[in-house]
Amino acid sequence: MLEKDAVENLLGWYRKYKRDLPWRATQDPYRIWVSEIMLQQTRVEAVKPYYERFMKALPSVRALAEADEELLLKLWEGLGYYSRARNLQKAAKTILAEHGGELPHSYEELRKLSGIGEYTAGAIASIAYGIPVPAIDGNVLRVLARVMGSSEDIMLPQTKKKWRAELADCIPTEAAGDFTQAMIELGATVCVPNGEPKCSECPLRLVCVASKEGRTAEIPVRAAKKARRIEERTVFVIADGNRTVLGKRPAKGLLAGLYELPNTLGYLDETQAVAHLRSIGFEPLRLKRLEDAKHIFSHIEWHMMAYAVQVSPDFDGVDEKWGYSFLENEDLKAHYAIPSAFSAYSSYLDKDAFLK
Ligand code: ADE
Repeated sequence: MLEKDAVENLLGWYRKYKRDLPWRATQDPYRIWVSEIMLQQTRVEAVKPYYERFMKALPSVRALAEADEELLLKLWEGLGYYSRARNLQKAAKTILAEHGGELPHSYEELRKLSGIGEYTAGAIASIAYGIPVPAIDGNVLRVLARVMGSSEDIMLPQTKKKWRAELADCIPTEAAGDFTQAMIELGATVCVPNGEPKCSECPLRLVCVASKEGRTAEIPVRAAKKARRIEERTVFVIADGNRTVLGKRPAKGLLAGLYELPNTLGYLDETQAVAHLRSIGFEPLRLKRLEDAKHIFSHIEWHMMAYAVQVSPDFDGVDEKWGYSFLENEDLKAHYAIPSAFSAYSSYLDKDAFLK
């Protein structure tokens, strides 16, 4: 797949041009683990501030294992895919209980931990411990497809499986971590996913079939994804001036266990909205239409319309059975993580929507 010379070129390029990223200044497996989890589905620039803040707040496996769930989710607020944070903590507890607080030193043991799949186990094992195992994410798949000039569908598990075995034979035993990072870096900065790859800067251009044959626009091939399901929702910012209502989502499914602004399926007109609010225990004094918003999840899109709902400051009827809490706005902002899906309405949490 990659001859020795090509690997040498790649490593030389990486060592010269690698970006200075906070998780590259460490060999600490804990830090590398957290960075790799954050970097799944999230861009490097977006991850940086989260990573720094997370490391200050929870600098060790023990700190993570023992962290309050609300703090953990607050540290993750805005990154999305919150199950990543929950799995991190679950794995941290296992590491504390079964591995004396140190991340296990083998690919197989890492792989058994919650939230650690083939890619992440490979990344931690190679970067933190120098174990020559492959770590193939979307970046690396793209690089490999182009280098080999392969039109195989990179979304198929068998494609990855085959390339994984071939890549394993190319990993230099004395520089496994740099090799992993170099492949990822090449995919992120040179062999880019959107727009023209920067082939003139590429350390693999002499061996790259797609580049030689002018096929970088067609490769990689990936089967069309299924269209996302669209859900129309009506969202409510129910407030009395100082307090706002949050609900807690079910323990399973989308945004599991997170707090949210109360919302329901369908677009409700004012009359329907009032009826719905009454049905969940609220007596609205006034309603005001807020702007529409959209949020895109991996498989679903929420198309939202929204109302600010004023209830009386004397209102005390939040019914536990609906899972709602009436929270002081200061407390809410400081301690509760609200998913980005609702960010269009977060500015209403500290201002009276009726005065805006
Ligand atoms: N994406 C996934 N892992 C990464 C890493 N270690 N550095 C930069 N981008 C990445």
